[in-house]
Amino acid sequence: MSNHQPIGVFDSGVGGLSVLEHIHRQLPAENLIYLADSAYIPYGSLQSDLIQRRSHLIAEFFISRGVKAMVVACNTATAAAIESLRLSFQIPVIGMEPAVKPAVLATQVGVIGVLATSGTLASEKFSSLVKRFGSSAEVVFQPGDGLVEQVESGNMESEETHSLLKKHLEPLMKQGVDTLVLGCTHYPFLIPQIREIVGDDVVILDTGDAIASELKRQLEAAELIVPKLMALDLTTPESSEGSVTFFSSGDAEAGRVMISRLWGRDVTVEYFPEEER
Ligand code: DGL
Repeated sequence: MSNHQPIGVFDSGVGGLSVLEHIHRQLPAENLIYLADSAYIPYGSLQSDLIQRRSHLIAEFFISRGVKAMVVACNTATAAAIESLRLSFQIPVIGMEPAVKPAVLATQVGVIGVLATSGTLASEKFSSLVKRFGSSAEVVFQPGDGLVEQVESGNMESEETHSLLKKHLEPLMKQGVDTLVLGCTHYPFLIPQIREIVGDDVVILDTGDAIASELKRQLEAAELIVPKLMALDLTTPESSEGSVTFFSSGDAEAGRVMISRLWGRDVTVEYFPEEER
């Protein structure tokens, strides 16, 4: 295993870019491969065995590209597949975890809200997280039905998204939450719109930054990080920033438009043709 091998990051669509951004910021010299499994989105409404098969297929693709670590930048796929991925692949596999523990520490009134996909909320992994960390606060759950689709179509600022967010957030606000956990990696792209509805006093938590720190910690522990000296190598200045390569199992052109918008620079997106076998 060499330090310069890439890191694979995937999500059902563009949501995982909210995690990729933190990874790229914390580990700018690393080479990253991002895969949006857009042909199968939304994962939140798929059976967990299909999400597991998709996750394994993507992991095998990453392995074929020589990755040294993998990040499941999707709460729903983490809930469905992280254990089996860790059993099958002998590299660090980092997954998402809704920020229930930090929320319980942050709440002043003892009521926290979790906005996530139905798949995440219904998973055993999530129940056990709430059992472990949620006992000292009231935890109110809300499925964010339809929000993933709004982000995927780039309609973050639309009236329809605003109404949908209102519908999902008002029940949480009525129950007095002062801390809101975003348990889906698509939702950070809606923070300005969420903020408008919940006001300035509610603490909004997402886990992208913490996941990037965990990845960094695991790479350092395994001595797999791109060394800082290499990152500053003046003879090859281009090595100071790692490459970021994008794939989508959906329409590559549509992926290019959306990813370029959310990533904030023009990118090319290659088609990932792997079909269910
Ligand atoms: N970004 C995924 C998550 O974190 C969205 C899941 C979906 O496609 O429904 O859960």
